[in-house]
Amino acid sequence: MTEDTDLLREECQSALAAAADQKSWDAVRVSWLGKSGRLTGLLKQLGGMDPDARKARGAELNQLRDELSRAIAARGEELENQALEARLLAESVDVSLPVPRAARGMLHPVSRAMEEITAIFATMGFSVAEGPDIETDWHNFSALNTPSHHPARTDQDTFYLPPEEPGQSDRVLRTQTSGVQIRTMLGQKPPIRIIAPGRTYRADHDATHSPMFHQCEGLVIDRGITLGHLKGCLTEFLRAFFGKPDLPVRFRASYFPFTEPSMEVDIGWSRKTGEIGEGEDWLEVLGSGMVHPRVLANCGLDPHEWQGFAFGMGIERLTMLKNGIPDLRSFYESDVRWLTHFGSDPLSPALLHEGL
Ligand code: DAH
Repeated sequence: MTEDTDLLREECQSALAAAADQKSWDAVRVSWLGKSGRLTGLLKQLGGMDPDARKARGAELNQLRDELSRAIAARGEELENQALEARLLAESVDVSLPVPRAARGMLHPVSRAMEEITAIFATMGFSVAEGPDIETDWHNFSALNTPSHHPARTDQDTFYLPPEEPGQSDRVLRTQTSGVQIRTMLGQKPPIRIIAPGRTYRADHDATHSPMFHQCEGLVIDRGITLGHLKGCLTEFLRAFFGKPDLPVRFRASYFPFTEPSMEVDIGWSRKTGEIGEGEDWLEVLGSGMVHPRVLANCGLDPHEWQGFAFGMGIERLTMLKNGIPDLRSFYESDVRWLTHFGSDPLSPALLHEGL
């Protein structure tokens, strides 16, 4: 039996065109070129032919085999590319789609508040300074003019650590960020304008106190600094932080060993509704004062030449007030539901021009 090679070629080519995926393509390939395939069968018949006929038919069939092999390989490649393209399309990521809120994690409200505080003070020319959590007794207390009998120094309030080397003075887990004032004045020349956000520690634990919490210190040292600068700076800060341009701010005489005079800073709020900036009541939010001449002298600065003001605030407290968070302990429980509710988008940094 001899089949017309043109018909064979056409038949194979239309089978290839009809093969829509790699599996049916493979079936076509096997049915033509496989061990018991059509073409293989024809080539086997050559053996029974007489030499002249075999020569002519052999040349014809070999050519056909080459052609079909090429056509089959080309179609195979085409189908492979198509499959790859379909996969890429199915697996592609639309980068313009919004990521679900909880899927990318949230910024803890304390971190957010630190960012906001930093952004506000940055507009007033402050930079960020740091100090160690394990502080010397001298930086944390003595240099800040804190007398040895001061209640803050008792080990009911302070976590003490043994000295690093025998004979050296005690170390403490810093009870306040105020020690960064000392480190900054010792480390750089005035004028100084820094804030120092960070962790602080006290031996205290209830609904409003945690053994670890966060503070932000502030220090300005320059020539001719007055109480007016302090009041202007802190009023500006509080109004920006709470987003209330007319927030009532009150400065109330107080005492801190490292400032003279010292003042607590209160903001207006309503005890009835809890609303900040409304009502007749006052809420204490931070401590402040003019840097005590003895503290300046402890850091090698002449108090007749340099003056300054300092302030310190509890970050959790400010965050609780701003966001209406009732219990301090929830800050440290790592409850994802709480974080999702009170946390903020890590991809939207605190920028003043967008509003806090
Ligand atoms: N260190 C004080 C505290 O932990 C807060 C404070 C008050 C800081 C007055 C200051 C300041 O710098 O001037 O309660």
